[in-house]
Amino acid sequence: MLEQYLNRITQGDCLMLFQDIPDNSIDIAFADPPFNLKKKYNSTKDGLTVQEYLDWCERWLNEMVRITKPTGSIFVHNIPKWLTYYTSFLNSSAHFKHWISWDAPTSPMGKTLQPSHYGILFYIKELKQNKFYEIRYPHKRCRKCHYLYKDYGGKKPLLHPFGPLVSDVWTDIHRVKHNKYRDEHPCQLPIHLIERIILMSTDEGDIVFDPFSGTGTTAIAAKRLGRNFIGFELDEEYVCISENKLAQEKSDSKIDDVWISFYLDEIVTLRDTDWIKLSKYYIIPESAEEIDHVPVIFRNGKSDNLLKNKDRRRDYPMFDRNIVKYGEPSDPCTYH
Ligand SMILES: C[S@@+](CC[C@H](N)C(=O)[O-])C[C@H]1O[C@@H](n2cnc3c(N)ncnc32)[C@H](O)[C@@H]1O
Repeated sequence: MLEQYLNRITQGDCLMLFQDIPDNSIDIAFADPPFNLKKKYNSTKDGLTVQEYLDWCERWLNEMVRITKPTGSIFVHNIPKWLTYYTSFLNSSAHFKHWISWDAPTSPMGKTLQPSHYGILFYIKELKQNKFYEIRYPHKRCRKCHYLYKDYGGKKPLLHPFGPLVSDVWTDIHRVKHNKYRDEHPCQLPIHLIERIILMSTDEGDIVFDPFSGTGTTAIAAKRLGRNFIGFELDEEYVCISENKLAQEKSDSKIDDVWISFYLDEIVTLRDTDWIKLSKYYIIPESAEEIDHVPVIFRNGKSDNLLKNKDRRRDYPMFDRNIVKYGEPSDPCTYH
């Protein structure tokens, strides 16, 4: 049954299509449903009564839990108002792990307490069997002086050269703003948001499921990271856009055999355990204290010009032989 849906976006009503997906068969389920905010979708009336909307949500949330494997996780993205109801549905069938706050700022010019974050509920199917990986993101620094924004006080000697473990507040991933990156869709998510979730909760070859696929963000993230995917989407045009985009994507978001999430030429998310392998691609400050004001430099990124400042780095002879630019044959980053 599952095979016919694998690695494609199927057009249709997710509640109908769910019936074909066996129990305990997918690794993670991610849902970004319409928020009932009267957005202009092609095929969805985004304006149900509160009770109609919640009844509908409860049905597909139950299905998400049903089809997820005991090792798997369930992620649901929405505004806080609706997530408060979702927790009461999910608490009876799965285990709460986190309420991730995704800070997606708008200009603070409308009103006091203007909503500027979304929530991502993170539930797991079984407490003892869940698959989960610690993940890191780059330190946030002043662009001019490179000092860390965060004051680590006496903990500086413990700083990780690449960056901290990701907390439940995500401030480093921006909404899709530029028109050139946007599809004809009112609510497209950034790929790096989903890539982070995938790196945290799945392995290569696992199945990532999305019942509200839109223009295919989850599927693209899964494909880039060497995972399988299943997407459902009501609107034919969005399916078409997704399939066109997917045809151009490769499963190559990695350095050597390490899957990573990239934006431009910097890593956005990596797994903690992969730093050992990836560190050889970075120029790392001499001492732990230096990390406070000296960024690690990805040897193949735009920061290569900083290599000239030899005082600011440890000497890596192996690397000095291998300074390469994107596109050269020995480039270890196959993403670009
Ligand atoms: C918030 S958008 C998802 C956007 C997606 N995350 C992306 O980045 O492109 C919700 C999507 O759900 C689709 N949708 C609404 N009702 C649906 C249903 N019953 N079954 C499948 N898809 C549905 C809409 O057409 C819309 O594209």
